[in-house]
Amino acid sequence: MSLDVAKIKRDFPLLSRKVRHDLPLLYLDSGATSQKPIKVIEAESDFYRFHNSAVHRGAHLIAEEATDIYEGARAKIAHFIGAESVDEVIFTKSATESINLLAYSLGQARPNSPVSLKPGDSIVVSELEHHANLIPWQELAKRTGASLRWFPATEDGRLDLREIEQIIDSSTKIVALTHQSNVTGAITPLSSLLDRAKAVGAITVIDACQSVPHFPVDVQKLGIDFLAFSGHKMVGPTGIGLLWGRKSLLEELPPFLFGGSMVTSVSMSDATFAPVPRKFEAGVPNMAGAAGLGAAVDYLQSIGMDAIHNHELSLTEYALAKLQEIEGLTLIGPGESSDRGAVFSFTLDGIHPHDVGQALDDRGIAVRTGHHCAWPLMKKFGITGTTRATFYLYNSLEDVDRLVEGIDETQRFFTSRGL
Ligand code: ALA
Repeated sequence: MSLDVAKIKRDFPLLSRKVRHDLPLLYLDSGATSQKPIKVIEAESDFYRFHNSAVHRGAHLIAEEATDIYEGARAKIAHFIGAESVDEVIFTKSATESINLLAYSLGQARPNSPVSLKPGDSIVVSELEHHANLIPWQELAKRTGASLRWFPATEDGRLDLREIEQIIDSSTKIVALTHQSNVTGAITPLSSLLDRAKAVGAITVIDACQSVPHFPVDVQKLGIDFLAFSGHKMVGPTGIGLLWGRKSLLEELPPFLFGGSMVTSVSMSDATFAPVPRKFEAGVPNMAGAAGLGAAVDYLQSIGMDAIHNHELSLTEYALAKLQEIEGLTLIGPGESSDRGAVFSFTLDGIHPHDVGQALDDRGIAVRTGHHCAWPLMKKFGITGTTRATFYLYNSLEDVDRLVEGIDETQRFFTSRGL
């Protein structure tokens, strides 16, 4: 069943905005952050209007309601990603914080714990990683004396797995990979990687920022150990992220932040910590954000993740065909639609990506330009940046046409001025 994009667009107030020269906005930057449906905006503002109170603390009705909303959101997310238990879902402020929490706590694990690292161990990432799934592991390697290894990217922006047996070997303790590249759109073929990681006993961490919003992700079916993603890319609020982890592993890890709400007892010289997830949620959390995120999950489920995925697949097929017809355009990413999302990074001969972005903006089209927090990948391709258009459930085939027309006009504008 195809999506009724016109109806979906009406759910998102910002998408009816006019921008430059009173043009209707075409928003193609959902990879950076998605727009929010009215139900999410209302869930967040209703929390402040009617239920605002510190969760897990007050002895009053409003605190009880706030706690129910907060824990209800956790349960919705657990169900959404197929977690075995709600306790495996930890609220953070962002996916970046989720990965930092994990890397820090792994570095602090007691020696001889199944999750601790030592010199001689290795951590495996890839050249496709966003800085958020690269730098925390670089730092963990420096702190523990472990080495960092990575899968190179292929010419078309996928993972090059030819050396899998050498890159993931008996020294490997952690394999941390993106599920879908935010630059090339390539979806990581997880099964062979996970088989290899499991064969050597490594912990697997998946950066799901660009996958959970776009297609069904089930942590148990995948058989991974940790999953990090953010709320704001999945039609939810900003300032809230998620870390899912296997309970037995979360229990092994020491807390990341210390303070209120994460203890079972405290003396002047020591403290004991609450069970997961509370031991990782010190302080008053982002309760309104959780309320909004719960509504975001409801919204995505009301449309259906399979339907969203199929819709994006049609957009991808159409966009790939159209974009690859444009002379002077180089696509940075797979040219065929299998195992890739609706993320289109490109360069135009002779025109700087920032100039392309500005020219498209002048036509009411919002895209992202730059290195997309994936500097090593830019270096690999010998470029400083790309222009990137990312599509979501509220984009249509006509939006692809408008982008293509915008690119064509941009090329003509620069050519006519001899720029
Ligand atoms: N990580 C986000 C992006 O790819 C911000 O645009």
